[in-house]
Amino acid sequence: MTLRVVQWATGGVGVAAVKAVLEHPDLELVGCWVHSPEKAGRDVGEIVGVGPLGVTATDSIDEILASEADAVIYAPLMANPDEVAALLRSGKNVVTPVGWLYPSARSGATMREAAIAGNATLHGTGIAPGGISEKFPLMLSAMSTGVTFLRAEEFSDLRTYEAPDVLRHVMGFGDTPDKALTGPMQKLLDTGFIQAVRMCVDQLGFAADPKIRATQEIAVATAPIASPMGTIEPGQVAGRRFHWEALVDGEPAVRVTVNWLMGEENLDPAWTFGPEGQRYEMEVRGNPDFTVSVKGFQSEVGGEGPEYGVVGTAAHCVNSVPAVCAAPPGIATYLDLPLISGKAAAPKTGTDR
Ligand SMILES: NC(=O)c1ccc[n+]([C@@H]2O[C@H](COP(=O)([O-])OP(=O)(O)OC[C@H]3O[C@@H](n4cnc5c(N)ncnc54)[C@H](OP(=O)(O)O)[C@@H]3O)[C@@H](O)[C@H]2O)c1
Repeated sequence: MTLRVVQWATGGVGVAAVKAVLEHPDLELVGCWVHSPEKAGRDVGEIVGVGPLGVTATDSIDEILASEADAVIYAPLMANPDEVAALLRSGKNVVTPVGWLYPSARSGATMREAAIAGNATLHGTGIAPGGISEKFPLMLSAMSTGVTFLRAEEFSDLRTYEAPDVLRHVMGFGDTPDKALTGPMQKLLDTGFIQAVRMCVDQLGFAADPKIRATQEIAVATAPIASPMGTIEPGQVAGRRFHWEALVDGEPAVRVTVNWLMGEENLDPAWTFGPEGQRYEMEVRGNPDFTVSVKGFQSEVGGEGPEYGVVGTAAHCVNSVPAVCAAPPGIATYLDLPLISGKAAAPKTGTDR
């Protein structure tokens, strides 16, 4: 049975999600919400650059609520809980990279109630958080016993991140260290990453302190650094590192870290990615200890192609749709859903062969 999917927002994730729906054998694109007035009324295929699809984008939430669809991939700039609740109440399953990975009973109560009222399911997913930070290390931990420590860590060069406003005004690059340390980034990241750490703690059964320790470090430029937001001058923030840790007897038992650097030169402290370069890394310590490094989601500086972490995020959302539609109403996390995989490409035909 083909499931009918609506794409909510056509930014980086949204565009990749539309393309992923088109490639998925069990899904059909039936609608699309856009924030930008100039995109409303246009064919979605033209918006995402694949040619006409016969599906028209709308900026009306009422139109989406009234439409017949099985699932919405909800990927706007910022989550609006009222919208998500309305989508669930209208009977649409929601898969999203913007939250609800592992909400507590209290923080998830409103959404759970809306989902049950609409006989629908909400699932939060992504890459980090939402994949590399908890789901995949937990899966890997099945190959060890007596686990004492779990780590997930991102090493990314943000010179490929073509979002100057986000880099400057949200992420605090180019600010003074004091300004960056007191800016919005820690709070913005905390919710998702703390849920990721809590999921690992609960699933592994660590007797951890309920308070997750959130800390951050800063590196400044020692010489001018060219970046998508312009030149970062000496003394300005050019590297940020955030850690979220669950502590057992004062020692980290689960740690999720992001390392976001504007290159590996002219930084103080002299942070680098090490010889392995940009990657996501997952480590399990137990019987046995092991480390897994994942490459391919970060673009090379000056390279071609989209940001593959964004494409991976969209794929993770899209591939989850059948399992989420089949799940009982409420909030479904990775701990509730069966194995989710990609799907084989359509067989090549005629001259493609
Ligand atoms: N969990 C993860 O691993 C993960 C990974 C990547 C991204 N994300 C999250 O996924 C979301 C989408 O990311 P993205 O890379 O696609 O972002 P993006 O490229 O900035 O696109 C966001 C889209 O949201 C819409 N939008 C713009 N301003 C808006 C506003 N004020 N209110 C509501 N919608 C607005 C626009 O849609 P239209 O262009 O259609 O008008 C815009 O294109 C973000 O919240 C991001 O943090 C999570």
